[in-house]
Formats: sequence, C-alpha cells, structure tokens
Amino acid sequence: MWDGVDACNPERKEEGDRLATGLCHPGCCWLEAARLNRRWAYRIYPRALLWCGSRKTAVMTTSDYTKPAVALSSGEMPLLGFGTWQIDNADASEAVQTALEAGYRHIDTATGYQNEAGIGEGLMAVGLPRDSIFVTTKMPPDNVGKERETLEESLTKLGLDHVDLWLVHWPPNKQATPEAWEQFIKAQQDGLTKSIGVSNYSLDQIDELIAATGVAPAVNQIPWAPTKYDPALVAGLKERNVVLEGYSPFKLSNMDDPALTSIAEAHDATPAQIIVAWHVKHEFVVIPKSTKRERIVSNAVGAHIELTDDEVATIDGLSEVS
Ligand SMILES: NC(=O)c1ccc[n+]([C@@H]2O[C@H](COP(=O)([O-])OP(=O)(O)OC[C@H]3O[C@@H](n4cnc5c(N)ncnc54)[C@H](OP(=O)(O)O)[C@@H]3O)[C@@H](O)[C@H]2O)c1
Repeated sequence: MWDGVDACNPERKEEGDRLATGLCHPGCCWLEAARLNRRWAYRIYPRALLWCGSRKTAVMTTSDYTKPAVALSSGEMPLLGFGTWQIDNADASEAVQTALEAGYRHIDTATGYQNEAGIGEGLMAVGLPRDSIFVTTKMPPDNVGKERETLEESLTKLGLDHVDLWLVHWPPNKQATPEAWEQFIKAQQDGLTKSIGVSNYSLDQIDELIAATGVAPAVNQIPWAPTKYDPALVAGLKERNVVLEGYSPFKLSNMDDPALTSIAEAHDATPAQIIVAWHVKHEFVVIPKSTKRERIVSNAVGAHIELTDDEVATIDGLSEVS
C-alpha cells in the first residue's frame, strides 16, 4: 500500500491541530495521481514524493498562519515565524517541513546559523508556492564590505532567487554602519530581497541609518518577551515605522509564572501559546524555535488565541524594564 496515504487521511487529528480536514499539503493534489502511477509522479516530483513517502507521521492540518500579519511596504509579514537558531543544518530540513505542515508561513534563519542549506531543502521538499512563504536571513556583522557576496551565498544555499527580509544581524563593531546599509538598499533595489532591516539596533542607531540614507529599516529584530516589554521602545519604533520583531520569546520568559499559567488555564492553552498570543495581540512579530514536532505544532496555535485587554495588561505587567 502507498505509505503516504495514511499521512493524508482526512480523519486524522493531532494535538494542537484545530482542523484536520482538506489538503494536508500541496503534495496531496499529486498524491492521488502518484497512487495511480507512482513512477510517473516520481519523475515529475522526485523530492516531494520522497518526502511524503518517508513521513507516515506527517501532521495534517489546514491551519495557516499567513495571518495575522503586519504590513511592510513590500507586502505582508506573518506575525508568527519559525525560529531556527541552534537547529543543525542536518536537522533543519525536517524541522522546516514540520513547521510548514503545521501552518507556519514564515521562516527565520541567518548566515550565522549555518543551516540555510537544510532550510532550503525543507522549503523545496514541501513545495509551497514561493510567494506564500516569508523567508528572512541575516548578514553577520563581520561581513561588512562583502554584503552582496553574503546575500548571494545565502540565496544559493536557500535555493531562492530572493528573500523576503534581509537583516544586519548585529550593529557591526557596535556601530550603525550606514555604508553597509547602503549596500542593503542596493540589494533591495536589485530585487535580491523584498525588504531590508536590522537586528539588535538601538533607536539612535536606526536614526543614524535614516539620517545617512533616508531609508528606515522595515524591521528591528530584538530580544523580546513580556519581561522585556518596554512601551517607550514600542512607541519609538512605531514612530519610525519600524516593525518590532521579537526573538527568544520563551528563553526570556518564566513559563511557570502564575500570571501566565492562570491565563493559560483560562484558555485551555499552554504558557508558551499565551506568550505567542501576547505578541500577536500587540502586533509584535514572534519567531519561536523548537526541534520537537509537538511543540512546533502547539506553539503556533497561540497565534490564533485571542486574549482579552485585561489579560494583555496582566502580561504587560510582567515587564522587568524600569
Ligand atoms: N537576531 C538575533 O540576534 C537572534 C538571537 C536569538 C534568536 N534569534 C531568532 O529567534 C528565534 C527564537 O529565539 P530562540 O531560539 O533564542 O529562543 P526561544 O524560541 O525563546 O526558545 C527556544 C527554546 O525553547 C524551547 N521550547 C520551544 N517550545 C517550547 C515549549 N512549548 N515549552 C517549553 N520549551 C519550549 C526549545 O527547546 P526544543 O527545541 O527542545 O523544543 C528551545 O530550547 C531563534 O531561533 C532565531 O531564529 C535571533
């Protein structure tokens, strides 16, 4: 019997999946054809067939976290993304496939994570339309002067002709470095990336880039969680039209905090899901990472949990920023 069929059984339900009907992934449209003529399908979709045929436990879900999203000048950025730091290249393909199956439509990587090739394999294996997935990568601060070369290498590894967002990973030598930013602007103009942004930049450093080039970063990716909540920083980024993208949402949180656990209980959810929901309610981009399938699926569900204003205020109160 065709071993991909079980993974596509519309009756199958997995923890964390709210919906378990319809197509489990784009492979399904050819899966039926493959059942009828496996050799034909293998010729047309060799990598996809390999993937589906080898994953009897594939999550089947119609969840799709394209929305909620935040508008960038070049399109929309899903508020939920999949973080990939500390996922080895050898495991990255599997992790990305799991995330895409679970409905994530936004993947965050970096040259420095050394897993772009694995991520590219995962993207290719799932075979979703390119414009349905938002891909971010980042240039290491030491690569100033080699900006274009760095991006081209990322694109080759990812198997893409453009990324959706390219970030300066850290301020090079702790400086804003407008000369690197000029190269980012050029790469965007040349179509190698749809948007450009920064990571770990202060408001002053962002202002320096704007003053030098007239171009604001679309995004600033920074350490963020309820414990880091800082309304002045939120307002400062908003004023500059820079989207706040948070990283390390769980590492920077106490998942056992009673405020979180009681809100989680009220929603029949996990504290991790509530942390994701808090980001989404504030329109902060959140990019949780996991290598465990159950957590990858479950964490994402938080993006569709609606917190009340009172709950958001309670979680805001966990801030340790004075
Ligand atoms: N721009 C930057 O400088 C920068 C810096 C750091 C991170 N980032 C990006 O942000 C992403 C997220 O940040 P992060 O990876 O540092 O931290 P994170 O997403 O806050 O936490 C990841 C850790 O939490 C665990 N975890 C995941 N789901 C969980 C759950 N439901 N319950 C309990 N533990 C859970 C993971 O373990 P398992 O894997 O075992 O599940 C892993 O140890 C990164 O992957 C990367 O893409 C960017």
